[in-house]
Amino acid sequence: MTEEMRLLWELRKEKYSTKELLELHENPLNLYKEESIEGPIIDIGCGQSTYVLEYYKKSKKVYAIDSDDFQLNSLKERADDIKTAESGEIIYINGIFPAHKLPNEIFSIVVLSNFLHFFSLKNCHKIIDKISSHTTAGSLILTQVHSSDHYVNQRKQKSHFKHFFQKADLDELFIPRGFERMYFAQIEHENSQSHDAIVHEWIRRVHNRVYNSYNEDIIKKEAERYLEGNRQTHITSIYRKT
Ligand SMILES: C[S@@+](CC[C@H](N)C(=O)[O-])C[C@H]1O[C@@H](n2cnc3c(N)ncnc32)[C@H](O)[C@@H]1O
Repeated sequence: MTEEMRLLWELRKEKYSTKELLELHENPLNLYKEESIEGPIIDIGCGQSTYVLEYYKKSKKVYAIDSDDFQLNSLKERADDIKTAESGEIIYINGIFPAHKLPNEIFSIVVLSNFLHFFSLKNCHKIIDKISSHTTAGSLILTQVHSSDHYVNQRKQKSHFKHFFQKADLDELFIPRGFERMYFAQIEHENSQSHDAIVHEWIRRVHNRVYNSYNEDIIKKEAERYLEGNRQTHITSIYRKT
């Protein structure tokens, strides 16, 4: 993870309590709660995942994979914040996916939230191949990805995102591998004021700590430029193995 991204995740950890994060959390997988199959859950590129925390709270066994120790340690601290006698089990794995081997399990739910857009579509095919071999009839895969309407794609900016998705891309990844589309939501919304305040503070910290620059005018202008037209534009989908 770059130093800039680390500063953002540190800030999110500092500013959002676990309780606040869980209040903001929406999980469409719960639509299929009654019909879901038994088995462990895995979240790949989990970060400080509210999915992991939700299922931990619900007494489930959850694997949390991330390539970054800060994220895994933060997630562990958040899990400790909500631990009760009913909590399940979280197995933390520091690994770079897809090179890292998946645990020898068949998963009931696979979460890929804000992860696939860091890979080319060709590499996403390899990722879904690997995951698919750890699923069975009834397994659900949830993805949240940046849509092609994302502002970085619209501005044709250079970035670390490798692919911006449309419905057809997701169908192409899942349907030939024996999945059916259960859920598709293309979401666009304005950021909250607290989100924008965090971005502003993030840009200040990047300037102070990475560039050793303290000019408030430059920082303010850069934050304004970054936030202009910056809406949340993502796709959430769920596919079920048939
Ligand atoms: C944008 S964050 C998403 C975190 C979380 N899933 C969410 O939706 O809030 C991406 C996460 O994936 C992790 N990551 C990036 N590349 C990875 C890889 N190849 N294997 C495992 N984790 C990776 C990063 O450390 C980071 O925590």
